[in-house]
Amino acid sequence: MAGITNRVLYGADYNPEQWDRDVWIQDAALMQEAGINMVSVGIFSWALLQPEPDRFEFAWLDDIMDLLANHGISVDLATATASPPAWLIAQHPDILPVDQYGSRYVHGSRQHYCPNSQHYRGAAAQLVRRLAERYQNHPALRMWHVNNEYGCHIAACYCDTCQTAFRVWLKDRYQTLDVLNDRWGTAFWSQAYGQWDEIGLPGHTPTFRNPGQELDYARFMSDSLYACYEQEAVILRSMTPNVPLTTNFMGLFKPLDYFRWAPGLDVVSWDSYPDPAEALPITAALGHDLMRGLKSGQPFILMEQTPSAVNWRPVNLIKAPGVMRLWSYEALAHGGDGVLFFQWRASRAGSEKFHGAMVGHSGRRTDRVFQEVAHLGQELAQLEGIVGSRVPARVAIAFDWENWWALELPSKPRDMNYIERVVPYYRALFTRNIAVDIIHPSMALDNYDVLILPGLYLFQDSYQSALESFVARGGTLMTDFFSGIVDANDRVRLGGYPAPLKDILGLEVEEFYPLANAGTVDVISHSAVLKREQYQARFWAEHIHLTSAEPWAAFHGTFFSGAPAVAVNQWGKGRSVYFAALVDDSLLGEVIDNVLAHHQITPPLAVPNGVEARVRETDDTRFHFVLNHRDDPVTIALPATPLINLLTGEPADNSAFIPGKDILVLAEPKGR
Ligand code: GAL
Repeated sequence: MAGITNRVLYGADYNPEQWDRDVWIQDAALMQEAGINMVSVGIFSWALLQPEPDRFEFAWLDDIMDLLANHGISVDLATATASPPAWLIAQHPDILPVDQYGSRYVHGSRQHYCPNSQHYRGAAAQLVRRLAERYQNHPALRMWHVNNEYGCHIAACYCDTCQTAFRVWLKDRYQTLDVLNDRWGTAFWSQAYGQWDEIGLPGHTPTFRNPGQELDYARFMSDSLYACYEQEAVILRSMTPNVPLTTNFMGLFKPLDYFRWAPGLDVVSWDSYPDPAEALPITAALGHDLMRGLKSGQPFILMEQTPSAVNWRPVNLIKAPGVMRLWSYEALAHGGDGVLFFQWRASRAGSEKFHGAMVGHSGRRTDRVFQEVAHLGQELAQLEGIVGSRVPARVAIAFDWENWWALELPSKPRDMNYIERVVPYYRALFTRNIAVDIIHPSMALDNYDVLILPGLYLFQDSYQSALESFVARGGTLMTDFFSGIVDANDRVRLGGYPAPLKDILGLEVEEFYPLANAGTVDVISHSAVLKREQYQARFWAEHIHLTSAEPWAAFHGTFFSGAPAVAVNQWGKGRSVYFAALVDDSLLGEVIDNVLAHHQITPPLAVPNGVEARVRETDDTRFHFVLNHRDDPVTIALPATPLINLLTGEPADNSAFIPGKDILVLAEPKGR
């Protein structure tokens, strides 16, 4: 992230437009006290920046930019295009998006724009150009914050403009209707198209829609929103080539294929709002690892998190004392170079007035939340050494948005949830403190010894040879049921499941046996590798025949007793592992332990359950992050290498006491 920061970024969304000028002065002083070095400004300011079609009002923003610059606070300046003003909607009502049932949204909330509306795009481009002209040389300008959370509320639009744009997109992808009809399998249910204009959007239909059409519509919508981003990015890059661009992602957000988006950003940033009810923040960690993986390990920024509670769950639990700090360190430990909040000062009015903020409605610096954020700000100022360091990982989980869309389309042997397929593996690695990169299946595999493909139902042609080379050179591939089933258009790959993986897995699937929601099936061990005799599986089973794989476990006590449930195949110098069911955590964990031991992959430090141990490194330093997610204190043994506690500056002893919800950051010089 060279050029963006040489210290840990610390700050918040700042909405000065909601406050009088005397509050701005207090804000700047309080920000300094809290150690803030960057704020995102103007995210929802379009109506104030451009109150009428031909009138721009920059004076207030000039003053804020100056004030912040004078206080040493830089600005992640928003392009303000996330919430079009009322006059623009009145002028061009067709900007308003349309839902799947043909009903048009109205003005009065936010994100009420159709991504393909030329009126929206034209007005957005004009605003972005004016902002860039005005602030291109302003000393406070550190980064551009393009729009805000694309697709968060409106990730699909069914208006006539989108319908026309969809046809253009399809023509570009398929060239001819013959190809489209073939890829969509329109011979089924009399769905064939003879003219491009006959093709509609996958809207309100009597029953299941064409899956190929649905899948392409998901791609098209992700691309349409990306085109909005790209339009702004092109303007900004031409006018401020040295100012980095970001837009805030949302982690595991289904509608946008962030792997397609990420190359267009200079730095990935994202907004993380885990439920404080989750004792171990595993989903947040998974999000961090995914965000880091989008740009092949480049550090990301945690652009938004709440300092205390959100306002949009039925019950909004606060982060208990210490948890905000702990989870902020988790972001850093997983490769973050910045920690920012939504938001700086709690709004007085509007629908987010009860959302947590660094400064509450009391405005008091003595409040608990402000004290905690100010303390964290002082600490992060001491951690500049970690900036730009990388998370070393030898295990990767392949994640694919197109597969997510396809897997969760209806009319499968049973309903599927992609994230629920990924999480068991991630949880097993997380609790073992094994670093994992979340990557796209087409990314380079050279750095990995273990590659996990959970539920990779949609299997692109190009994956096969990369996977074969990976295993042939000694890697371990782990995958599971209902993988390798369809092509990029959701058409079944014929010739026995999973056609592209049969050789490498040494098996073939004859029949699927989806289990009822509460159903389970016993699995018994066939291998000395496993510690127990019996395990359980749920959700799914299938009847597989082994060609060259060996059974490590088999189903039991059912009509398919004896059919393998876990099969391991030697291939070249490596091997593959296949789970024919959703096996319980103990069976999954034992297989993973075996795989990790085979590759001599170990956690960086030995720590008790509920404690995370992570590493980031530069060429000469290894940074250890130890995060005690438990309520009670732990004492951990430290290696006999020289270690400096980065927060105290003192050398560490050979053991460390870490109170509940507390953390430790250590620097270890790397041997040459
Ligand atoms: C984010 C959004 C912010 C704010 C926040 C509340 O989705 O970017 O503007 O609404 O959520 O949690």
